[in-house]
Amino acid sequence: MKVIIIGVGGFIGSYLFDAVNMRHEVIGTSTHNKRFKKLDISEFGKTSRFLKGKNPDVICLPAGITNLDYIEKNPNISEKINVLGTENIVNYCSDNDCRLIFFSSDAIFDGKMGPYYENDAANPISIYGKQKFEAENIVKKLDDFAIIRTSSVYGWDKKKMNFVSRLIDSLENNKKIKAPTDQFYTPTYVIDLVNAAIKLMNKKFNGIYNIAGPDFMSRYKIALNVCRIFGFEKELVVPVESSELNQTAKRPKYGGLINKKALKELGIKLCGLKEGLIDMKSGPVW
Ligand SMILES: NC(=O)c1ccc[n+]([C@@H]2O[C@H](COP(=O)([O-])OP(=O)(O)OC[C@H]3O[C@@H](n4cnc5c(N)ncnc54)[C@H](OP(=O)(O)O)[C@@H]3O)[C@@H](O)[C@H]2O)c1
Repeated sequence: MKVIIIGVGGFIGSYLFDAVNMRHEVIGTSTHNKRFKKLDISEFGKTSRFLKGKNPDVICLPAGITNLDYIEKNPNISEKINVLGTENIVNYCSDNDCRLIFFSSDAIFDGKMGPYYENDAANPISIYGKQKFEAENIVKKLDDFAIIRTSSVYGWDKKKMNFVSRLIDSLENNKKIKAPTDQFYTPTYVIDLVNAAIKLMNKKFNGIYNIAGPDFMSRYKIALNVCRIFGFEKELVVPVESSELNQTAKRPKYGGLINKKALKELGIKLCGLKEGLIDMKSGPVW
């Protein structure tokens, strides 16, 4: 099976590339990392020509603009990548019988009653959430696809962009960090996520899959767990309300995803936060 992963310089993309590389022929693309083929999905013609030249069986699309506050301020720039860039790849897949694995988010929900099932009604409250949902609707037109919805993914990250790795970085340097008590997620260990994504490359799994950890907790509670497992002073974590954080984009209050379908159909077990953090504690993969 020939797999193309677009955006392997990103957090999830980099783990996905390493995991797929052990099992299949894989080509990774990046906008900037010189180890990989250069590809910007907002260059529609170049992207289509690149894909035609490689003729993959599966395309994985974790690529996109993911900074919610940046997107809120720059909706047109991000739409070109998150929505129109996805649409261009969907058109390629449709014309060339190629399977698409698309990464989406619990941000498509309003957070009034999370965690959510796959068929709960979406109602995004941020432009990021709207763009992810719009892109999902385009992907759903394909016959051969899986949409992976996930929530608050954590793991070692060289760029220290995810909440847990950013937190560890601050706490190691004895810096205080604010953690909201009113934003709930289902934290998902990146290793579990990419293993599930590999299973979802199999054509028999079509549709939307929630790939998220079993614990439902606030960012503050997540931070306290990090302190406990890594041995940091919990006083360094400052509980705050979201309104104190000056975040431009609204975050769902009760986000998160219920993973029952994935457990049943894929036969996988996603680890709880404590287990994931203990695994992280054994050290970064690089
Ligand atoms: N992390 C989470 O907690 C989380 C939660 C829910 C959903 N998701 C979804 O999972 C996916 C991956 O998230 P992530 O955390 O890995 O994000 P990330 O670290 O921000 O990575 C996204 C990557 O997309 C690539 N990209 C950006 N603009 C591009 C363009 N114009 N053309 C081609 N590639 C472009 C870049 O890859 P290069 O650096 O290689 O150029 C970038 O590093 C996203 O779709 C996100 O919505 C993530």
